[in-house]
Amino acid sequence: MRLDKFLSDMGVDSRSGIRKKAGWGRIKVNGKVVRDPGFAVPEGAEVVCDKVTVVYEAFSYYMLNKPAGVISATEDKRSQTVLDLITETKRKDLFPVGRLDKDTEGLLLITNDGDLSHRLLSPKRHVDKLYFARIKGTVNEDHVKAFADGLKVSDDLTCLPAKLEILSAEDISEVHVTIREGKFHQIKRMFEALGMEVIYLKRLSMGSLILDPDLSPGSYRRLTEEELTALNALTGRI
Ligand code: URA
Repeated sequence: MRLDKFLSDMGVDSRSGIRKKAGWGRIKVNGKVVRDPGFAVPEGAEVVCDKVTVVYEAFSYYMLNKPAGVISATEDKRSQTVLDLITETKRKDLFPVGRLDKDTEGLLLITNDGDLSHRLLSPKRHVDKLYFARIKGTVNEDHVKAFADGLKVSDDLTCLPAKLEILSAEDISEVHVTIREGKFHQIKRMFEALGMEVIYLKRLSMGSLILDPDLSPGSYRRLTEEELTALNALTGRI
């Protein structure tokens, strides 16, 4: 791999910034100053920029507890995006796996691994997504049955059977909902079809990946090896 790609992929600087650093003699490969940004970095070589060793990571995986008010996009002119929250790296190729509405909180996987994302989101794979929701209205067993039967929310959308569990049922009810699709505003539209309103929504899990309860809204961490292995197994990559 070219030296400038190696360092820009790892977010050290832009390609032009790296060209300058190389020209100034601030980059070493295996202990020798390299001034050519097109230098082919040998497999396993030690690359040091400004005295800091840079390890190449082809793919990065972060679990984010998305806060309300932030949008699930890579960039936006007006609003803060989920990528603005990932401050640990400057790499530019990250994206969120799927979308949560601006006012939805909870689990979001951020990665640059397009193949894993594609597999997790594929409508054929039916990966379970578990949400906690607060509903304006009293949820009852008829609603549970309607979810289980596959709810028609509009002329063009009948949802796959979904699991609705009642945690508490007062004027404001608390529920768990498990859906296997990811249609736009799906859970809100499902409750709307029953004459109710979602007033709080948080995603708790996606397939084998469970939101770490130690992550407060807005914080994130890298996936563990075990979490990544479980996702690879779930999506048929191993
Ligand atoms: N369903 C919704 O209505 N909104 C979300 O953000 C996720 C699922």
